Amino acid sequence: MTDDQELLETARQVAANAYAPYSEFRVGAVAVASDGRAFIGVNVENAAYGSTVCAEVTAVTAAATAGVRKLDLVAVAALDGDDVYPCGNCRQLMNEFDVDEVLVEGPDGGPVRSPFESLLPQSFGSEKLAGGT
Ligand code: THU
Repeated sequence: MTDDQELLETARQVAANAYAPYSEFRVGAVAVASDGRAFIGVNVENAAYGSTVCAEVTAVTAAATAGVRKLDLVAVAALDGDDVYPCGNCRQLMNEFDVDEVLVEGPDGGPVRSPFESLLPQSFGSEKLAGGT
């Protein structure tokens, strides 16, 4: 199994822990830091639907909680379905942590990597703010 297949397998396995009683669409994510550490996340829904958080959010915020500020890759897999890409909100969150690539299961189930830039072109980031880095 390739590294990419293993990451997607992990994302899919963790998706089983998603709390998604409303949509029943269970998603798992693995955020890989530049130092190699990996952080998992699942979507956590809420009766107040707008309070739902995506799997990518819980994975990236787990990484941030551990002190990570640079992510190389975020892998995403849905328990039932493939070709699932991060939503716009998650892309903006990933931009904050300088994600290089996103890994998903393509239509045939195989791993597909996308350069982050292709998913959020002309992004807004801290460099646009006065004094930003
Ligand atoms: N969801 C994710 O967790 N990640 C995605 O990339 C797409 C959508 C979740 C949010 C919600 O709990 C459910 O999937 C249906 O939108």
